[in-house]
Amino acid sequence: MTVSSFEEARAAVNEGREAAEVARELVGSMSPEDRLWCLDGDAPTWAGLAFLAGGGYHRAPFLAAKVDHLGLPGIAFSDGPRGAVVGNATCFPVTMARGATWDASLEERVGCAIGRELRAIGATLAGSVCVNLLRHPAWGRAQETYGEDPLHVGELGAALTRGLQRHVMACVKHFACNSMENARFSVDIEVDEVALHEVYLPHFRRIVDAGVACVMSAYNSLNGEWCGENRDMLTRVLRDEWGFEGFVISDWIFGLRDAARSLSAGLDIEMPYRMVRAQHLSAALEHGTVTWEDVDSAVERVIATLLRFDDVLTHRPAQDVVGCAEHRELAREVAARAIVVLRNELVEGQPLLPLTPDTRLAVIGRLADTVNLGDGGSSDVWDLDCRTVLDGLSDAFAVALHDDGSDPWKAASVASVADAAVVVVGYTFLDEGEYIGATDPSLGQLFPPGDESEVVERFEAMCNSIPSTEVPERVASRPAGFSVGGDRDTLRLHSQDVDLIRTVASANPRTIVVVQAGSAVIMTEWIASVPAVVLAWYGGSRAGDGLADILLGAVNPSARLPFTIPAEESDLPPFDRDAAEFRYDRWHGWWRFARNGRAPAFPFGFGLSYTDFTLVDAGISAEGNAVVARGRLANVGVRDGADVVQVYAELPYPDTPARLVGFNRLEVRAGEEVPFEVRVPVERLATRDANGGAWRAASGHHRFIIARFASDPDACSAEVDL
Ligand code: BGC
Repeated sequence: MTVSSFEEARAAVNEGREAAEVARELVGSMSPEDRLWCLDGDAPTWAGLAFLAGGGYHRAPFLAAKVDHLGLPGIAFSDGPRGAVVGNATCFPVTMARGATWDASLEERVGCAIGRELRAIGATLAGSVCVNLLRHPAWGRAQETYGEDPLHVGELGAALTRGLQRHVMACVKHFACNSMENARFSVDIEVDEVALHEVYLPHFRRIVDAGVACVMSAYNSLNGEWCGENRDMLTRVLRDEWGFEGFVISDWIFGLRDAARSLSAGLDIEMPYRMVRAQHLSAALEHGTVTWEDVDSAVERVIATLLRFDDVLTHRPAQDVVGCAEHRELAREVAARAIVVLRNELVEGQPLLPLTPDTRLAVIGRLADTVNLGDGGSSDVWDLDCRTVLDGLSDAFAVALHDDGSDPWKAASVASVADAAVVVVGYTFLDEGEYIGATDPSLGQLFPPGDESEVVERFEAMCNSIPSTEVPERVASRPAGFSVGGDRDTLRLHSQDVDLIRTVASANPRTIVVVQAGSAVIMTEWIASVPAVVLAWYGGSRAGDGLADILLGAVNPSARLPFTIPAEESDLPPFDRDAAEFRYDRWHGWWRFARNGRAPAFPFGFGLSYTDFTLVDAGISAEGNAVVARGRLANVGVRDGADVVQVYAELPYPDTPARLVGFNRLEVRAGEEVPFEVRVPVERLATRDANGGAWRAASGHHRFIIARFASDPDACSAEVDL
């Protein structure tokens, strides 16, 4: 019997048939109209845009490839990286904060919680796994990714994917080289084969290997071809070389320009509207610039993936998991685990942190009393139950006197009568985040002249049947428009923040600066004026409680920087947020500092604890297809704590970046030691052939470094011949 409905396809798979084969059979029985319907979003363009402008983004997932008379469920996409954007869900600390935990199992739990809430609100596909590398800290969407290093980003992205995919399909984005925001719709990134495969793609591949269901192409063009129409990337690399079996969607609205090119390149679904393909694909098929085989392959990939995930997607958790107590507790745990203590100097012979609960605190700064969750674009979560720094510190300390810092001298007088002062400074969605600003006017030509009336009718019926989402007060009072952030125009704090820090510190020698930001902030001009600094990110719905846990030592800080903090901008690679063309090479991040012999303000992988660690008997050995680092991590202080053992490799080739090749976060009780083992598969040391499009197996003299952060002077190293 041939398969002619999704129900029959499901039954065939349950009987043990291959999903791809069954999908092919189902597609073979579908009408041409149904097959074309599956190649773009189900919503009409103009009505869809109007819905979006009215808050629709937070009301309903975006649907595509849903064919009711075949029982085909299609996809229901919702972002995002720090929580479900539909509904009033739990907001977790931003991805970059979670990168600082260096803890894949914690990230998997976050993925599981986000996935659970997303599925409960009706989504089946999560746009949560953003893993573009932090090439430069000015990137507006830096907060949506995990950091600057491909191995570290890949491990955490794979963990998020595993967690999400217990409840929904995950989508990894933006493929590839999308690390600039303002110019994202127009910039061409030039990158050579070696830099692409050794630096910009390994983390995507790691996540593909972890079984991610879906890949979203990037807006930018790569080596002269738009990523949504880039056959080299979407077919040759992703499918032929990596064996990706899921489906590819475009980024939203301006993700492709040429219907036929995008389809033959291997992009399966244009998102989120009936826009470019709905206007041009039929004609392209008639003219033969694209074939029905291309159409069928795309639809097969979508249906095969839906069949593979059918068991997962069938289970829809109840609504009450959204914002549930368990997820709030996790948000608090992650907020604390993500805070990096950068500086903790002695004051009167004692490190300033941790504080005791009887401390009378002055809590200074406008951000102390602001729900500051980060980006106001596609990753924004409309959580209604958020606790600010002031909320958290007021509950945890005997006294917490607030001053908004608008008059630094007034703030200083409040601080002068307190036992210690906490000054909260940094950025908001106005300073960094997704950017919808002036775009290339030619993009307007992509819009259709009008919508199809029966599509509008169906869409409006859907809109009328969904629950409304409450608009948080902080969102209602924002400037109009989708988002303002964009790439940062400075890596330093605003001058008012710097004045405030200095003035308060001069009034209270026990001043702690709390920085809220999505990536590196240069602190050179003010850091010496205060004894303590913590990087607290956009800490999610329990930011205040998480911070209180760290300041009190209820949680011993164990976060480590997921990027390098430079002392000066000139140590970074070039960045031009208005560029039309830009070249990415292999040299950014901690390995650029190492090559150039530049000391950063704070190195990659660095963070303080309230205890001290040392590596004991650390060594390296080659064992079969792996190089293994072993030793013991000793906690030589008086508090239980956790540290991250990091293994770096220097390759035998001149002018090839060193690599982070493994890491392991370990909890160690005060005064005890625990053994560690970091296994580095030899294939992680392979290099890409510049011309051949292939990997060269590692061989020759490699130097391995077991360290607690990049360029750690107390690291142990050993050489291994491969
Ligand atoms: C962003 C994507 C996001 C999509 C849908 C786009 O503007 O670039 O990251 O997933 O919107 O929310």
